[in-house]
Amino acid sequence: MLRFLTAGESHGKALVVIVEGLPSGLEVKKEDISAELGRRRLGFGRGPRMRFEQDEVTVLSGVRFGKSLGSPIAIEILNTEWPKWEVEMSVETGESKKILTTPRPGHADLAGMQKYNLIDARDVLERASARETAARVAAGSVAKVFLKSIGISILSHVVSIGSVRVDSSAELPKFEDLEVIDASEVRCFDVNFEDAMVNEIKAAAKDGDSLGGTVEVVAYGVPVGIGSHVHWDRKLDGLLAHALMSIQAVKVVEIGEGIDIAFRRGSEAHDPIHWDKENESFRRFSHNSGGIEGGISTGEPIVVRASMKPLATLNRPVLKTVDVKTKEETVSFKERTDVTAVPALGVVSETMVALVLASEVLRKFGGDSIGEIKSNVESYKNQLKTQLKN
Ligand SMILES: Cc1cc2nc3c(=O)[nH]c(=O)nc-3n(C[C@H](O)[C@H](O)[C@H](O)COP(=O)(O)O)c2cc1C
Repeated sequence: MLRFLTAGESHGKALVVIVEGLPSGLEVKKEDISAELGRRRLGFGRGPRMRFEQDEVTVLSGVRFGKSLGSPIAIEILNTEWPKWEVEMSVETGESKKILTTPRPGHADLAGMQKYNLIDARDVLERASARETAARVAAGSVAKVFLKSIGISILSHVVSIGSVRVDSSAELPKFEDLEVIDASEVRCFDVNFEDAMVNEIKAAAKDGDSLGGTVEVVAYGVPVGIGSHVHWDRKLDGLLAHALMSIQAVKVVEIGEGIDIAFRRGSEAHDPIHWDKENESFRRFSHNSGGIEGGISTGEPIVVRASMKPLATLNRPVLKTVDVKTKEETVSFKERTDVTAVPALGVVSETMVALVLASEVLRKFGGDSIGEIKSNVESYKNQLKTQLKN
C-alpha cells in the first residue's frame, strides 16, 4: 500500500514529501512533477503569490537514472520567497517581531493556538495553510504515473463557483479534454459558464470578498474490484471521502449523484446493469453511484465531487474576532489571500483521488516492480473473463 507524509510551513524554507510503497520501474521526471505543480497555481481569482511562487522541485531519493527504485521517494519544493521570511520563520532560537494575536474566523488559528498552547497565530496558520497541498500534488504526480502505467487516468473540472453552476446533466469530460479544461481561466469544461464564473469572481474581488465552489473528479480505467465491502475502512467511497475532506476548506464530498439522489425515489436513483455482448462485460450507463457500489469500484468511471467553502481570509477584513491578549473585539488580520481557489481545488482533488486509487490498486495487485503489478492486473482481468464463462 501507499503512504505519504508531508512536512513544511507555508513560508518556511521548503516543503518536503515522502512517498512510500510505489513499485520500481516507474518513470519519474522532475519536469512532470513541476508541470503538475504549475497546474495547481492555475485559475482566475488567485493572488499575486501564485505568479511568483515558482515551486523549485528537487527529487531527493528513490529514483535513479529517471526510474523509481521501489524505495521511498522524497521530494523537496523550495520556497522561492524564503529570503523574505528567513528571519521571521527561522528555526534558530529567537522570537517574532510581529506576533499575530487576532485569530481569523474560519481558520485553524484560534483552536490551534488553544490546543498547542501557542500565543502567535502564525505558529498555527503556517502549517494549516493550503500551501501544504503543493507537497500533496508532488506526491500525487508520482501516483498518477503509476496509475497511468496500468491504464488509469484522472481529470478534474470546475462545476460551480459562487452562485454560477454548470448544468448537472452535461456529459462527463474525457481525459483527452484535460488540456482544454486547463486552458480555461476557471478550469471549466462548459464554455457557456466560463464568462459568468469570471464575472462572479470579479464582482467578489471588487467587494473584497471571497467565493467557494465545487469541482468534479473523474477517474477512467479503474478496474472492477478496487476497495471492498468487507470492512468499513476498506470501502473505496469512504477512503475517497476522507481523502477529499482532508483538503483545506472542503466541506462536502459527493460520490456520483449522491446529493441529488437523496431527493429521488429508489426507482430513479440507481444504475441499471446491462450486458455488453460485444465487449463481454457488465455495464452501467448512468453515473448515479459514481462507479462505486458497496465500497467496490464497478469498472465504470469513478465520479466524485468536492465543495469548498468561500475562503475565510477576506481582502476587506470584516469578520469579527477578539485580540487574544487584550480580549478586545476587532476584525481579523489580513494574510495574503485569493478571491477563490476552486480551480486549484480541482488539481488538489485529482491528487487525493490518485493517491487513494494508487494505494488501493497496490493493495489489490501487490508486486514490487511495475512489471509484476502489470502481470497481476492481466491475470485478474483474465480471471474475470473466465469467471463469466463458467
Ligand atoms: C488550493 C487552496 C488554496 C487556498 N487558499 C486560501 C486563501 O488564499 N485564503 C484563505 O483564507 N483560505 C485558503 N484556503 C483554505 C484554508 O486553507 C482553510 O479554509 C483553512 O486552513 C481552514 O481549514 P478548514 O476550512 O478546512 O476548516 C485554500 C484552500 C485550498 C484547497
